[in-house]
Amino acid sequence: MTDRAVPASELYTDEFVADPYPTFARLRTDAPVCPVSSLRFDQYLITRLDDAKAALTDPRLSKDLYGPGQHYLRIFGPNSEGLNKNMLNSDPPEHTRLRRVVSQAFAPRRIEALRPRVAEIVDDLLDKIVPQGQADLMRDFAIPLPMMVISDLLGIPATDHDRVLDWTQVIRTSGSSRRPPEQERAAVQEAQLRLNHYLADLVQAKRGNPADDMISALIEACDHDGTLAESELVTTTFLLLFAGHQTTADFLGNATVALLTNPDQLELLRAKPDLLPQAIEELLRFDGPLPVASPRIATEDIEYQGVRIPRGSIVGVVINSANHDPEHFADPDRLDLCRDRGPHIGFGHGVHYCLGVSLARMEAQIGIGALLRRLPDPRLAVPVEQLRRLPAASPFRGLLELPVQFS
Ligand code: HEM
Repeated sequence: MTDRAVPASELYTDEFVADPYPTFARLRTDAPVCPVSSLRFDQYLITRLDDAKAALTDPRLSKDLYGPGQHYLRIFGPNSEGLNKNMLNSDPPEHTRLRRVVSQAFAPRRIEALRPRVAEIVDDLLDKIVPQGQADLMRDFAIPLPMMVISDLLGIPATDHDRVLDWTQVIRTSGSSRRPPEQERAAVQEAQLRLNHYLADLVQAKRGNPADDMISALIEACDHDGTLAESELVTTTFLLLFAGHQTTADFLGNATVALLTNPDQLELLRAKPDLLPQAIEELLRFDGPLPVASPRIATEDIEYQGVRIPRGSIVGVVINSANHDPEHFADPDRLDLCRDRGPHIGFGHGVHYCLGVSLARMEAQIGIGALLRRLPDPRLAVPVEQLRRLPAASPFRGLLELPVQFS
């Protein structure tokens, strides 16, 4: 066991980006709590499932990034408050208040009512793809599907989808262009600023002309019962917009690759579509889109696995490692769609457990189910090693492109 800081260059190699699971296995055995000098910030990584669950419910690990410690400066940088000071970056009681305002809208029964609309969006997207015989399934399916669903829910007009998507994609793919880092950072800041202004303007427009959508409901909570401050209208909308499509898009891409590279499991699912709900859980365990939970801060010196984590440190709970912990999942690197759901933490754990879990499951079940039904003999158009992925510095695990052919 070691508490030697692992330099980013040692951990985040090209091999790691392509397949991080051997590295996670090594960390779980040799350094289950490991200080890493990271590409974006230094942090302690927690890689075993029991520790991960303990950390995600440990009150000494705070999510209050915009409180007195101003920890956001190390993580998101200055000027991030306008979008990121939201429930995900706060502790109870603030967190409880912010989450309660929107939690009703994400209750399973409400989400179930969206099923026909989600199926319609999926069918429209596939109607365009199927006759072509090939597609970039990220651009043509995985990204637009959740983007259209969450935009409908929030009340973002269809005519604005393209530009909103342009801004969120600049944020999502940051670090993957050939531009120098300063230009890249400037492009992200510009996109964030534009998105911030766009959402603020949209809120103002809806204030004068409310509709049956979530932004109008948030305005009601702000203006009539005071549960939400004006600035929180925008930060909450941004969180729902970004969390609502980013992770789902990357998940749809990762899940498709997992199925295409495990043809026995693909065939199994085709033959037994009733397995879909269970299969989605296994696909999420197998290669989830959020490899590390959002950063936590140690509010005092704490100890995990005999490693002292000093007060003020950033702690990253490695969800994708915990979900491959052999103490809890037999043969963890094997995709087994018949596996019991088990204790995976792909949707998090504790008070920040994914608010959109029912929506994410529904979109994935309808989306993956339709791909299997409607794409005849789908296969990757390039070898799996050549798929272009989000860079190591990205908080997400996902693909830049997913070229697929079908007959
Ligand atoms: C497959 C898709 C998805 C995955 C894997 C996923 C995963 C997660 C995880 C792991 C967390 C906890 C993060 C942490 O503790 O640091 C989280 C939180 C959250 N998710 Fe999701 N998510 C998905 C889809 C969605 C969707 C569709 C929405 C809809 C708006 C959504 C909204 C949220 C929100 C608002 C939070 C913050 C909750 C809080 O702070 O209390 N997610 N998600």
